[in-house]
Amino acid sequence: MRIDIISCQPDLLESPFSHSILKRAQQKGLAEIHVHDLRKFAINKYGQIDDYAFGGGAGMVMMIEPIDKCISGLQADRTYDAIIYMTPDGQTLNQNIVNQFSLLQNIIILCGHYKGVDERVRQRFITHEISIGDYVLSGGELGAAVLADAIIRIIPGVLNDESSALTDSFQDGLLAPPVFTRPAEYKGMQVPDILLSGDGPKIEQWRFEQAIERTRQRRPDLLNE
Ligand code: ADE
Repeated sequence: MRIDIISCQPDLLESPFSHSILKRAQQKGLAEIHVHDLRKFAINKYGQIDDYAFGGGAGMVMMIEPIDKCISGLQADRTYDAIIYMTPDGQTLNQNIVNQFSLLQNIIILCGHYKGVDERVRQRFITHEISIGDYVLSGGELGAAVLADAIIRIIPGVLNDESSALTDSFQDGLLAPPVFTRPAEYKGMQVPDILLSGDGPKIEQWRFEQAIERTRQRRPDLLNE
């Protein structure tokens, strides 16, 4: 899968993709991430990519021309299955949406800044608008990193133990059950006997019941969907 991220603060996106799982995914050739500096497509030698809003009001608006040049240049080389705009007024991200994006070949993620992009960018280019939650970030970069991380980690072959993505919270519509590791007893706190029993089917049943109970207590909304 190829992910092109368009940003006016590309340095913010250096670190998230150069560590651990996301780094390994790229080394294995399972994911390609390209970050594009929007200022390279500025309308003048001063690096201008934004301007005042027509009609007045505080805050700058990202101009259509640099974004058009960047996206059109990418589209000249390949077809994109989705062009996603990170914005607080988009659809709130969830595991379902992530799963769908992970099936695509080529996607573009556009990071917003300031008051956002000229509405015509959304009309012309954007196929999906995504928010990572009901709060406002200083820009779309951290949201883009969240989205790309969630997508890449579930691409088959990225995680060593493939089943570990399948047992994530939300994958079966439930929160994940509690987990324990050694020692079996710590300062008087015991690991549930069932997990030490070696009885696979019983353990699976226990985990399922715990997942339901945890979801009922913490996220009853998930059970009613
Ligand atoms: N840009 C600013 N706030 C955002 C949010 N909550 N989600 C995605 N992109 C954003």
